[in-house]
Amino acid sequence: MNRITSFEQYLSEYKKSVENPEQFWSKQAEEFVWKKKWDKVLDWNFTEPNVKWFIGGKLNITENCLDRHLAERGNQTAIIWEPNNPNETGRKISYKELHSEVCRFANVLKNNGAKKGDRICIYMPMVPELAIAVLACARIGAIHSVVFGGFSFQSLADRIHDADCSIVITADGAFRGAKDIPLKSVIDEALQTCTSVKKVIVLKRTNTEIKMQNSRDVWWQEEIKKVSADFPAEEMDSEDMLFILYTSGSTGKPKGVVHTTAGYMVYVDYTFRNVFQYNKREVFWCTADVGWITGHSYLIYGPLLAGATTLMFEGIPTFPDAGRFWQVIDKYKVNIFYTAPTAIRSLEAVGLDFVKPYKLDSLRVLGTVGEPINEVAWNWYNENIGKEKCPIVDTWWQTETGGIMISPLAGITKTKPSFATLPLPGIQPVLLDESGKELLGNNVEGRLCMKFPWPGMIRTTYKNHQRCFDSYFSHYHGYYFTGDGCKRDENGYYRITGRVDDVIKVSGHLLGTAEIENAINQHPDIVESAVVGFPHEIKGWGIYAFAIDDHGRKDTDELKKEIIATVTKFMGAIAKPDKIQIVKGLPKTRSGKIMRRILRKIAEGDFSNLGDISTLLDPNVVEEIKTGRIN
Ligand code: WTA
Repeated sequence: MNRITSFEQYLSEYKKSVENPEQFWSKQAEEFVWKKKWDKVLDWNFTEPNVKWFIGGKLNITENCLDRHLAERGNQTAIIWEPNNPNETGRKISYKELHSEVCRFANVLKNNGAKKGDRICIYMPMVPELAIAVLACARIGAIHSVVFGGFSFQSLADRIHDADCSIVITADGAFRGAKDIPLKSVIDEALQTCTSVKKVIVLKRTNTEIKMQNSRDVWWQEEIKKVSADFPAEEMDSEDMLFILYTSGSTGKPKGVVHTTAGYMVYVDYTFRNVFQYNKREVFWCTADVGWITGHSYLIYGPLLAGATTLMFEGIPTFPDAGRFWQVIDKYKVNIFYTAPTAIRSLEAVGLDFVKPYKLDSLRVLGTVGEPINEVAWNWYNENIGKEKCPIVDTWWQTETGGIMISPLAGITKTKPSFATLPLPGIQPVLLDESGKELLGNNVEGRLCMKFPWPGMIRTTYKNHQRCFDSYFSHYHGYYFTGDGCKRDENGYYRITGRVDDVIKVSGHLLGTAEIENAINQHPDIVESAVVGFPHEIKGWGIYAFAIDDHGRKDTDELKKEIIATVTKFMGAIAKPDKIQIVKGLPKTRSGKIMRRILRKIAEGDFSNLGDISTLLDPNVVEEIKTGRIN
C-alpha cells in the first residue's frame, strides 16, 4: 500500500488533496475490497450538514480487516492479548483464527435474533472477545455502540436507551488492577429501565457470581459451541452506519456520534499507516480502551485494516507496579507505542526506578493523544522512553473526526514539543475569531474549525440530526467547529490549547459538566450543583464541584463522601469530583443562568478579574464562595 515517505512528498500529497480531494481519496479507496465500486466520491454541504463519501459503493469492513489478509498473512498474529494479571497466560490470535472467531460470533448474534441495522451495546472488559464482538456486529451489518466499562448504570442506561439497543454483550466482571468490577450487575440495574433489550450475551471472565435471567441472558461460551465458523459478510452501503459512539456534550445528554462504513474505513487506514509509518510485522500498541474512539480506530479497525499486529492490554499502567507498560513493551517487543499524556505524567511522577529495569529497545515510534501534552511530559517521554531516537507523534483528533487530523508523520515531520504540528493530507483547518472571521497567516490564535469534509467525519448524531447541526455546524456558518482553541505559530504549526466549551478533559476522558451535575443532583440533599474544571498536574484537568445542601448539614465531610459515592454509582468512578465545595448559593444572572466563568476563576484560585458581578441576582454569593474555596 502506498505511504508517504518524505516531507517533500507530504507537501505534494497535501497539495493534491486540497486541489482535487475526490481524486486523492478515491486513490486511497481503490486499495480495498469492494462488493461494488462507488458511483460518486463526494457529496457535501456544511449547512444541513450533509456529507456522503463513496456514494453507491457496497462493501463490508470486516472483509477488509480479515478476509483480505488471509492469503498473505493468515498465520500472522492479528491480536496479542496481555491480561491484567501478569501471571495469567496471554493470547496470540492469528488473522485466520480471528476471522473464524468473528464468523462464529456473527452466527451467535444471528441465533439470538440480531439483524442488519439493529443497535447492539457492548459493555466489556479489554479482552479479545471485545474486538470479536465489535467485528461480528460489523460482519452482520448491526451497529455497535461500545460503552466504556468505567461508566456506571445511569450513563449506561442513557446510552442503551438512546440507541434503542436490542442486544447487550457483556461479561460477568472485569479485572482492573487489584479490583474486580461487576459489569453484569451494572447491566442488570441499567436494564430495569431499558425495555428495548431482548438478549444479554454474557462472557465468563472473572467467575463472579451473577444472576442470569432465564429468557433474556445467555452465556457466550455456551452459545459459541452451537455455531459454525462460516459467515458470509453482509453487504453494506458505503453510507450505512458502522457504529455509534457516545460523547459528552454541554447538555446532560450524551451525543451519539454516528460513523458510517466506507469513509471511516478509508480514513482510519490511511491515517494509521501514514502517521505511525507502520512497517510490516511490527507490533503496535495503543493503550486506549475500546470504549473510546481511540480504541475503535487505532486498536481495532486501523491496525487490522493495515494487516498489523495490534496489542490489547486488559489492565492498568500501575498494576502490579508502575513499570507494567515498560515490561509489556519488552515482553512483546513493541515497536509503536501510543498512549495519553495523563499516563505519561503519572508514570513520570513515580520516578525512573520503574523504567530502568527495561530495555525498551524495540521501540521505534511513540504517540500521544487525548489532551495537550505539556513540554515537561513530552521531554520526559522523549528522553526516558524513546531514548531520544523515537519520533513522537502528538496526534490531535476527536470522536467526531473518526481519525487523526493534525499530527506529525513519524520520522518525516519535524516535531516540536506540545505542537500537533501540521494537518494530514485531506484536512483543511482554519482558525476563526469569535465573530467567525478567518484568521489568516501565521502567529494567530483562535477557534479551530474545518472548512472541507474528510471521509472519517461524523455524519449525524443518532436519531437527532438537529443536534449534530447545533453542536458542530451552527457556531460558524459553513464550518465544522471542533470546540477547541488553537494557536498557529510562525511556521504554521498547530498547537491545541484546549476546550472552549462546557466539557472537560479529565485524564484524557471527555466529560460533560452537565452530566456530572446531574449525577451529583441525585443525592437527596443536593438541590443544585455546578461543575467546572481546574488545572491538575497529572490529570490535565480536575473536577471542581460546587453544591448546595438543602439541609445545611454541619458535617460536610460526610456529605462530600456521599456525593462521591453518588457520582460513582450513577455515572462512574471516572467522574468523581476532586474537590467539592458546599455553598449556600451559586452566582446566577437575573435570568437564572449560572455564571460559570466566575466559578472557573475561583476554582483556579484566580480572584483577580472576576469581571462585572453587579449583574448577578445576588452578588454576595461570590464573596462566600471565594472564602470557602478548596485549595
Ligand atoms: C482533545 C480523543 C491536544 C481536544 C481522540 C479534542 C487533544 C478532544 C489532542 C477530543 C492532542 C485530543 N492535543 N488536545 N493531541 N487530542 N485532544 O472525542 O480537546 O475523546 O477536542 O477524542 O480531546 O476528545 P475525544
